[in-house]
Amino acid sequence: MWVESGEVPPPPPPHPGDLSAEKSERLLAINLSYVFTGLLGVVLAFLLSYYLSNRISKPLALLTEATHRVAGGDYGGGVDVKGDKEVEELAEAFKTLSENLARNEALRKKMVTDISHELRSPLAVLRGHLEALEDGVIELDEGVLSVLMENNNLLSRLVEDLRQLALVDAGQIELDLMPVDLEKALRSAVAVFERELAEKEINVEVTIERGLPDALADQGRLSQVLHNLLSNALRYAPRGGRIDIGARADEGEIIIWVADNGPGIEPAELPLVFERFYRTDSSRARDTGGTGLGLSIAKGLVEAQGGRMWAESEPGSGTAMLFTLPIALAEKH
Ligand SMILES: Nc1ncnc2c1ncn2[C@@H]1O[C@H](COP(=O)(O)OP(=O)(O)O)[C@@H](O)[C@H]1O
Ligand SMILES: [Mg+2]
Repeated sequence: MWVESGEVPPPPPPHPGDLSAEKSERLLAINLSYVFTGLLGVVLAFLLSYYLSNRISKPLALLTEATHRVAGGDYGGGVDVKGDKEVEELAEAFKTLSENLARNEALRKKMVTDISHELRSPLAVLRGHLEALEDGVIELDEGVLSVLMENNNLLSRLVEDLRQLALVDAGQIELDLMPVDLEKALRSAVAVFERELAEKEINVEVTIERGLPDALADQGRLSQVLHNLLSNALRYAPRGGRIDIGARADEGEIIIWVADNGPGIEPAELPLVFERFYRTDSSRARDTGGTGLGLSIAKGLVEAQGGRMWAESEPGSGTAMLFTLPIALAEKH
């Protein structure tokens, strides 16, 4: 070995032991950071899954369970869900859905009971008379024939009314909306009852506001509604009484009314007259042969045309049935 003077000797090679100590320290640090990162990941994953399970999975499981319950026909017992905003909104929508289903189901059951109840009485009368005829207990005279006819007609009316109501309910009323001249519509609706009005000596007054715009309506459905209201007014107005029918514009729509000076309707019964099969006691007692469906159908038809219908009445002095229709925008000039 020789050393040249003035030259710095090269540094001694690092000790192999020193190198591995430093490396392994660094490796350890790296490993530890991996472990910590891993642990943090695990903790985060755990927290996230806890959060997801609490806020999303659990509420969804509850909702699924509730959906199965509702599918099985159990509409009661809502579902109490606490979770994310979206999940809570879903739960709220589900609650509304099951409430609607429950209401519809109750309505359907009531409807079936009501229908069978309404069918029973004319069927019983027909059957009683037919059996009595068969046994020779009564003879087929004019009186018996008219009872048979009357009850047969009642059954036909009931079936037709139920068909109309089903169409209204299903939103399947086909409308041909067009501008309708109300003066013409009201006068021709009254003309249909000319004979009955004359027989009962009822005076009809038609009042159309001057310059009234056309209504946007279905001519056929409108005359069906007017026919319904006029037949009630005619039934309840006293002999020699009066019926007022008319139309006026009010706040961007048209109000049409049919009023009579009949017995009126008690305030408590007023909102009920639009319910299916509802007849006030006095009208049942009269045995007028109505189905109790006329006003529900009329209201449904008016609503299908974009209007509202309501009743105003003062017991003792008469009843007014009112409804609205939209104004046809292409107005008369
Ligand atoms: N103009 C009226 N005056 C008094 N009561 C009325 C009048 N219109 C309707 N009602 C009451 O509302 C009930 C329901 O009417 P509606 O649905 O047309 O059935 P219906 O005519 O078949 O009895 C009637 O039975 C009657 O009790
Ligand atoms: Mg009626």
